[in-house]
Amino acid sequence: MQIFQKVEGIRSALHEAQLKGKKIGFVPTMGNLHQGHLELIKLAQKTNDIVVCSIFVNGLQFGLHEDWDQYPRTFEEDCKKLADVSCDMLFHPDENQMYPNGLDSQTRVICSSMTDYLCGASRPGHFEGVTTVVSKLLNIIKPHELVLGRKDYQQMAILYRMIEDLCFPVRIIEAEIHREVDGLAMSSRNVYLSALERQNASQLYKSLSWVAGKIRLGDRNFIALEKEAADQIKKAGFQPDYISICNSRTLEMATIDDCDIAVLGAMYSSAARLIDNISLH
Ligand code: PAF
Repeated sequence: MQIFQKVEGIRSALHEAQLKGKKIGFVPTMGNLHQGHLELIKLAQKTNDIVVCSIFVNGLQFGLHEDWDQYPRTFEEDCKKLADVSCDMLFHPDENQMYPNGLDSQTRVICSSMTDYLCGASRPGHFEGVTTVVSKLLNIIKPHELVLGRKDYQQMAILYRMIEDLCFPVRIIEAEIHREVDGLAMSSRNVYLSALERQNASQLYKSLSWVAGKIRLGDRNFIALEKEAADQIKKAGFQPDYISICNSRTLEMATIDDCDIAVLGAMYSSAARLIDNISLH
């Protein structure tokens, strides 16, 4: 696997590949890779000649009191995992490469819808950081396909919108959520859970599954379902942030006529904020 730290380095390597007509797949990450990330690489390999992964813990998408400092940085292990799945290229820039004029004066990409509610309500500015860094990465890598995990459902929906609105010539490939045996969605932040919290952390998935099951059976009392699921999470010892039954595309509150529904949830443990979702068609 070739590793690049400089924008110019990866650009010229990919330029060669593009001239030869190679198809490029891209998997952006913040590192601390788990099986879920490796599945994204494998998915990208199915339809592309060259797969590029990026590892960059993007300061712009963390709030002041969030976990940017503690975010697990495991570069050596990540490189080994990527080499084991035959990832072709890794882009691992530092902050100077990504934000040469400083974070504060960085030009931003703002998506005017879908960013203020759900996760955006508790993490102001977060999605602006995501859309800005992903735009930059797309301009650097110029991939044909961008592979995103469905676990970050709102992020994915916003990136669809950004790509459409700004005419990025890239196609999104969606990857299923990769789960632990008990249903907990794999996440780099699961390492923050205490042993006791880890035992009960699949409650978020259980409650979302419970809601999905009720909707499948015809229950359309969405507000009551959201409240009951939040109560289940409280009883399991976590603080629910939100449980929302949404239209899958706009992420606005679902109406009783909506056919494509996503049930999204977020909850706090003592040191982690976990998210998950289930789609219903
Ligand atoms: O999902 C993530 O890991 C990040 O939000 C992303 C897309 C790599 C942007 O920093």
